This record gives sequence, C-alpha cells and structure tokens, in this order.
Amino acid sequence: MLPRRTLCFAVLLATTACTRPALQPVPTDRPIIIAHRGASGHRPEHTVAAYTLAVEMGADFIEPDLVSTKDGVLVARHENEIGGTTDVASKFPERRTRKVVDGDTMTGWFTEDFTLAELRTLRARERLSFRSHAYDGQFPIPTFDEVLALADSLGRARGRVVGVYPETKHPSYHRAIGLPLEPALLASLRARGLDRRDAPVYIQSFEDGNLRALRGQTRVRLVYLVSERALTPARLRDIATFADGVGVNQRLVVAPDSAAVPSRVIRDAHDAGLKVHVWTLRSEPVFLAARYGGDPVAEVREMVRLGVDGIFGDFPDVVARGLDVAPTRR
Ligand code: G3P
Ligand code: CA
Repeated sequence: MLPRRTLCFAVLLATTACTRPALQPVPTDRPIIIAHRGASGHRPEHTVAAYTLAVEMGADFIEPDLVSTKDGVLVARHENEIGGTTDVASKFPERRTRKVVDGDTMTGWFTEDFTLAELRTLRARERLSFRSHAYDGQFPIPTFDEVLALADSLGRARGRVVGVYPETKHPSYHRAIGLPLEPALLASLRARGLDRRDAPVYIQSFEDGNLRALRGQTRVRLVYLVSERALTPARLRDIATFADGVGVNQRLVVAPDSAAVPSRVIRDAHDAGLKVHVWTLRSEPVFLAARYGGDPVAEVREMVRLGVDGIFGDFPDVVARGLDVAPTRR
C-alpha cells in the first residue's frame, strides 16, 4: 500500500500527463529544417526574436552556437569575440583586448571576460552590412537555458516538437581557459530531460576531440562538422565511430558552377551510417551559387534531390518553401 502523499503525487503527475496534449514529433519523412543562428537572415542572429521567427517560418530545429561567460554560463553567440554582433564597444570600451583563439590573433571583446550580469546589459546587432539593421539595439543575448525553454514553449504553443541543435564553439580553447563547455551543456540538457537518444537535440562541433569524449558521456546524437575535401569512405567510417551525422559545407555536396557534378559524399556518408546535414544555405547573391540562377529555392530542391537529411539555412522560410512546409505563426 502506497502512503497517501505518494499516491496523491502519482495521481497529480498522471493527471498532468493526461491533460498535456502530445506534441507532433519532428518529421522523419523529409529533411529537417535547421534555423541557422535562428532566422538570421531576417533578425540579428542568436536572439529570441531570430529563433521565434524561425519557428514561425516552419523550422524544426533552432541552432544556438555556444560560448562561455566568465562565470561559466553558456550563452548563444557565434564566437566568443562579440564586437561585431553587440553594442559592447560603446558600453565597455575599456575591455577591448587582444587574444589568440585557436591560432588566430584577435582584437576585440570576449565573452569569457564578462559575467552573465554584464553581458545581459548588451544588445545584439546585425553583423552583415547588407542585411537589415532595423532591429539593432533591441534584443539581449540569450543563455542556453533560455534557448531550451524557448524551444519548449514555442513548440507547445504550436503542438509540435521544436528541436535544439547546439554547437560547441572553440571547445579546446574554452577547456584551456578553465571554462569547458561540455559539462554545462550536458547539465542543461539533463535538467530538461533531454539527455536521451530520442531527444530532439543534436550536438555539433568542428572538433572531433570533444565529440569523441561526449560519445562516452551522453546518448544525445552528435554531428561532426566538416569543410575538408578529404571526406573519404574510410574517414567517414571513422567519424561514424563517435558521431551520428556529418554537417557538411554544401560546396562539398556540389561545387557552385552550373556544370558541376554532385560529389559522392552523401552516398558515402549514408553507407557509413551517418546522417548528412548541409550548411549553410543563404539567399543573397553574394552567397548563392551561380548554378541556381538567382533562385535560392532551387538550391533547397537540389539538396533534397541529392538526399540530404537536414538543411541549415539563414532563411528558414526559403528552406520551408523548398520543402513545401507551411509556416506556423501564432
Ligand atoms: O553549424 C553549422 C554551421 O553553422 C557551421 O558554421 O560558422 O556558421 O557556425 P558556423
Ligand atoms: Ca553553427
């Protein structure tokens, strides 16, 4: 016989589970739409506004790149140098400094020199001159925990699962300065019950060292990012020992010129048991390959025809159009 309090708690849990409608899972019958830094073609990257718009446009996953604050909190920024994507220069001019990050000498402002409280005073700005600057100065830098909470609430409001696709940025560098990314990343996932094989999460990295270590620490799916040309079948079989997929530059799938013949990389990766997610589709003429004749949807359709399993795009609306996925505004 269960004690009365335990029984009441069990009934309460069961009732909550029954009244919470099941969410539509991420589709498996078409490539997944991964909003690269959110809908970063429309809003300043890595902001709640960019992620929210992406989900409204039909994205299945939102992508936070992760770096650390001085007090060890993971925040969403493409790199730890934040001079180009925030107003840090005007708010903390005296913090400008020079560092070597992964062999590159850089001058600017670095997240690891700021506490979370200090970073919260900053506002995001668009990094590219030719994209809209109408939203500069409006949105704060979100933490990884806030991105997880956002994906959950955006998904619940639409009755479908919204996944999260975090990338560890400069993982060796962060470890070397005493701010390793992986423990905080796994702690955040565990706190939300997302350390599962079937969780709507992929962890990505350009470094294989931290992915090999993560393979022994989590069941979450791992994706190794590659832009190297030497993706031989043997190399892909090695990647399959620690990762579930490869994130490949789309130029490795097919070269930009109109006459180019697609490579074997998708077939070889599939033969090795790996998923293939391509990055990064962008609509502007400066990025779009000549073979698509100015039509970014044509690039999406070619990637689908060639058999990719997922597409990273700055314009999730364009990827959705290429896949005939309807927007889900609320
Ligand atoms: O994560 C896929 C793609 O985002 C890798 O490039 O530099 O935009 O993070 P990056
Ligand atoms: Ca990324």
